[in-house]
Amino acid sequence: MQATAQAQPNIALIKYWGKSDVAANLPAVGSLSITLESLWTKMSVEFSSDATTDKLFLNDELNDQMLLRVSQCLDLVAGNERRFAVVRSHSNFPVAAGLASSASAFAALVLATEHALGGSRDTLALARLAGNASGSAARSLYEGFVELQCAGGQIDLQVLLPPSAWPLRVIVAITEEAAKPVGSGEAMLRSAATSPFYPGWVAQQENDLAEARTAVADRDFAKLAAITEHNCLKMHSVMWTSRPSIVYWSKATLACMQVVRELQVHGTPVFFTIDAGPQLKAVCLPEAEETVVAALRSAPGVIRTMVSGLGGGATILDGQ
Ligand code: PMV
Repeated sequence: MQATAQAQPNIALIKYWGKSDVAANLPAVGSLSITLESLWTKMSVEFSSDATTDKLFLNDELNDQMLLRVSQCLDLVAGNERRFAVVRSHSNFPVAAGLASSASAFAALVLATEHALGGSRDTLALARLAGNASGSAARSLYEGFVELQCAGGQIDLQVLLPPSAWPLRVIVAITEEAAKPVGSGEAMLRSAATSPFYPGWVAQQENDLAEARTAVADRDFAKLAAITEHNCLKMHSVMWTSRPSIVYWSKATLACMQVVRELQVHGTPVFFTIDAGPQLKAVCLPEAEETVVAALRSAPGVIRTMVSGLGGGATILDGQ
């Protein structure tokens, strides 16, 4: 009763921020993301009749901090009567630092668990379970450009374009390797309860999604750039105006934004987005990759950059 699955993180261009149902972890707004290719999380799950408790190893180190969420996710997929499991997670990028590590982790976890138990749920059913553990994780089950909508008390997902149809490049500027100070779940609740901008954020999301959907269908880079940056800055405005305020940006994040702005002034096809952490993600056309990497590497406070194309959904690596 063992299986290993791999999933890639995804980056939201139109963001999920806020919950309509906290217990079911349902998003208050739809979102649109791109699944990455070269960043990954591999999760292996082994159920054992000898184990007396669940155990989680993150990059070979025993981890208690994430164990509760992992155990709850195992319950969702395998039921409360299940055996205990040893879960081993390996990622090739920093965990819990605003790089969507929970997305790839929970997407891989539900798939590995289902496979270890010989289950036959389809991708949408698994995405709904992953979404229950972490809203953005549902999107990492799917490839390329993915739209997530919430209707009738559940989420639905759709691939808008496969990665090969519009092979954009993503450059992640890592400005901090440590875990973020406030988790996104807690921060979303605070925003909904206290930011005067939150109702406007929710009300405008359908318009932003429609604009982004059309830009993706038309492969209109300038249009996608404009709506992505607008939606990102709007989400961070909601965070900043929460009480107490939630500020994930650092000096280095701002320096990276300035670098992207300067590149844009010189005609480079690139735009930025930022999630619940200080890392900046730049999205560009393939021909601009080298220029964007060089510019971001020279920004003050950037530790290193990671480059990725767009990639596939979660897959099984081995198991029974
Ligand atoms: O899936 P969560 O609960 O980690 O929330 C993700 C929130 C953002 O990354 C900021 C936005 C998004 O849509 O991924």
